[in-house]
Amino acid sequence: MRKKIIAGNWKMNKTPSETVKLIEELKPLVKNDDVDVVFCVPAISLTTAMEAAKGSNICIGAENMFYEESGAYTGEIAPNMLTDIGVKYVIIGHSERREYFAESDVTVNKKVLKALEHGITPIICCGESLTQREQGITIDWIRQQIKIAFLNVTAEQAATTVIAYEPIWAIGTGKVATTEQAQEVCAAIRECIGELYGEATAEAIRIQYGGSVTAASAPELFVQPDIDGGLVGGASLKPDFGKIVNYNK
Ligand code: PGA
Repeated sequence: MRKKIIAGNWKMNKTPSETVKLIEELKPLVKNDDVDVVFCVPAISLTTAMEAAKGSNICIGAENMFYEESGAYTGEIAPNMLTDIGVKYVIIGHSERREYFAESDVTVNKKVLKALEHGITPIICCGESLTQREQGITIDWIRQQIKIAFLNVTAEQAATTVIAYEPIWAIGTGKVATTEQAQEVCAAIRECIGELYGEATAEAIRIQYGGSVTAASAPELFVQPDIDGGLVGGASLKPDFGKIVNYNK
């Protein structure tokens, strides 16, 4: 049985002091032994977030990371800067990073490999645009994103990663994919991982759905056979996130 994983993606929200307040507020609400709970926060708040989450079931994750060890990369965050403070997860290839910061499938692959080398679990994002969905090429597109993201990743490593399927048209729009649409693509992703690595890896890897998840839509989404939790943006900044984490209660 795969353990569910529900992650909040705070994006560019909350100052370090607001971060402490929000973690204190959410801490009692997000207890659920059936779920791994991750808060991915802006880099500047990682240290304070780690401190604030101490002793709770909340794991702290980063929203991005660079694929080099160190050097002349102004503004970037190296993997050992994350591990040094105990960060265990990092979101890689979010569609906003692809759109606004020119991340490509190739840089996503480099970051995935680097995170794994440092023992950080990548939450690898993929997803189609509305045009791609309307053209009927969603599955082909997602398969390509997955195949490139996992180039040179071993089966053993792949099994430890998390994939987040986030249709771009559903992010921050209030337009959640239907349960059938989300399940269909998550199943296709698992099938693709099965082709690349075999059945055991496909069964082990955790696949999230993301895109306008709310307390209302979470219960139906997260019980689908191939959906192992969610990556939640807007609703992760509110007490509602407690309800999302406790979707099964
Ligand atoms: P949303 O964001 O829940 O606000 O749609 C999800 C995401 O971008 O990870």
